[in-house]
Amino acid sequence: MTPTLVRTIAELRRLVAAARVRGASIGLVPTMGALHRGHAALMRRAREETGLVVVSIFVNPTQFGPHEDLARYPRMLEQDCELCGRERVDVVFAPPVEEMYPAGFRTFVEVEGLQNVLCGASRPGHFRGVCTVVLKLFNQVQPERAYFGQKDAQQARILQQMVRDLDVPVEMCICPTVREPDGLALSSRNQYLDAGQRQHALSLYQTLQHAQHQIAGGERSAAVIRQRMEERLVATPGAVVDYAAVVDADSLQPLASLRGRVLLALAVKFGATRLIDNALVDVPE
Ligand code: PAF
Repeated sequence: MTPTLVRTIAELRRLVAAARVRGASIGLVPTMGALHRGHAALMRRAREETGLVVVSIFVNPTQFGPHEDLARYPRMLEQDCELCGRERVDVVFAPPVEEMYPAGFRTFVEVEGLQNVLCGASRPGHFRGVCTVVLKLFNQVQPERAYFGQKDAQQARILQQMVRDLDVPVEMCICPTVREPDGLALSSRNQYLDAGQRQHALSLYQTLQHAQHQIAGGERSAAVIRQRMEERLVATPGAVVDYAAVVDADSLQPLASLRGRVLLALAVKFGATRLIDNALVDVPE
């Protein structure tokens, strides 16, 4: 099946309205393209749960900092459409930048308190850009359900807060991280890694596994877990650690002792490539 490729908001709205008349519910999978098996898993779930599946492919300039990889971010629309076809997606919405941000655009969405920690600390303005584009997509598509990956844990948490605070009528479906057989979390940025970096990038997953074993073994000091995670990452050849954090999964604030739902979160650079990974751990009270 070839999905219908749509470039304008007006055409998108027409297709969505026609599907609604047929009684279909709408599922949205927002992406920036360079699609991989992680995205495919989101599409598959959307296909199972909704009647019209829309995948947006838009490399959103407002979520990239001035020295980030906007220009070199992989763009491969033809391949992406083929993957969407295999996953029986109905509509691919791939607007040009001027369609999403016409001249004179000046409204942005911010989620205070959650946006400046973890990735937000080293990527100022990133989540403001993410929230703004995702709210625009929600308004354009008006989906019953929207699908995001747990790999971007902070993004998922912030978007859930935005939806709650702004009464957006969408059900947020956060799907498990998809990994390579050796554990590396799938990411569009993995393709930047050379063979050596790819091998060493495994240390993110291994560090999370090790921390989870320590917690399962009874360790309850966040400082001990955090320090051990950082030591492991620092010892990884080529790794420059942005953060190794142990935070409350809801507030994203650092914890002293572990209890409740805990987020172990890592961000590490290999050369110019920044990778993130995380694990959610439920620690008995
Ligand atoms: O996770 C992503 O790919 C992007 O941040 C998103 C949600 C598509 C917004 O541009």
